[in-house]
Amino acid sequence: MYTKQKWVVFLAAVLLLTSATFDAALAENGHKERRRYQKRHRNSAEHNAKSHLTPVNNSTYKETCGACHFTYQPELLPSASWGKILDRLDDHFGEEIDLDQEPKKIIAEYLKANGAESSSAKLAVKNMRSLKGQTPMRITDVPYIGHKHEDDDIPADAFQRKSVGSMSNCIACHTTAERGIYDDAYVEIPK
Ligand code: HEC
Ligand code: HEC
Repeated sequence: MYTKQKWVVFLAAVLLLTSATFDAALAENGHKERRRYQKRHRNSAEHNAKSHLTPVNNSTYKETCGACHFTYQPELLPSASWGKILDRLDDHFGEEIDLDQEPKKIIAEYLKANGAESSSAKLAVKNMRSLKGQTPMRITDVPYIGHKHEDDDIPADAFQRKSVGSMSNCIACHTTAERGIYDDAYVEIPK
């Protein structure tokens, strides 16, 4: 009788102990799950900030505005800048551009709907932040862009070289510009 009771007590103690470790294991597991979830959540939040600009995907814009120069991604300038550019096509940096109403409307809608202020791309966000409300007609007048090209590593004559022409010719040096990638890792200044 006596030993039996002892056994019961012993068993109860064992049960209590195992259930306690089991609970601890469960809690630890839950913790891990939660941590994993937070990590996944953080990663997807980072993912939402695009690392590159969206390549130009409007054929009217590409054909019309790409006739003389690189077709700049709309995310490079705020939509108010694009509005100004389109309002002054009779004197476009010394050129007169005669556009029919229909293509002009298509281009205006595309540029304004995709302006820098509605982009989550890092470059667009940085451009917007540096503009502080200004709406220049040149991407090269965006303070962040100007600042990035003041680097001592860029030869003084780089922008005047025949193979480049001017700083407006992004694609002369940014080999991946058409894909919306301006990282310095893909820059090659032509001779
Ligand atoms: C007839 C040729 C021609 C056409 C067509 C043309 N552009 Fe231009 N664009 C120019 C010239 C020239 C410059 C000045 C480039 C320079 O300073 O090196 C320029 C500059 C620009 C710049 C400023 C680039 C910078 O320096 O940051 C933007 C933005 C621009 N054009 C947008 C457009 C848009 C939008 C269209 C279509 C509606 C268009 N362009 C069509 C000739 C043209
Ligand atoms: C003469 C060649 C040349 C031209 C033209 C040029 N760039 Fe650059 N760009 C460079 C170089 C070189 C760097 C790297 C500077 C550094 O960090 O040392 C750079 C850096 C940049 C950066 C920063 C990249 C980073 O990883 O931080 C951006 C954004 C950029 N350029 C955009 C443009 C745009 C937009 C245009 C056209 C309007 C343009 N560039 C025209 C040579 C050029």
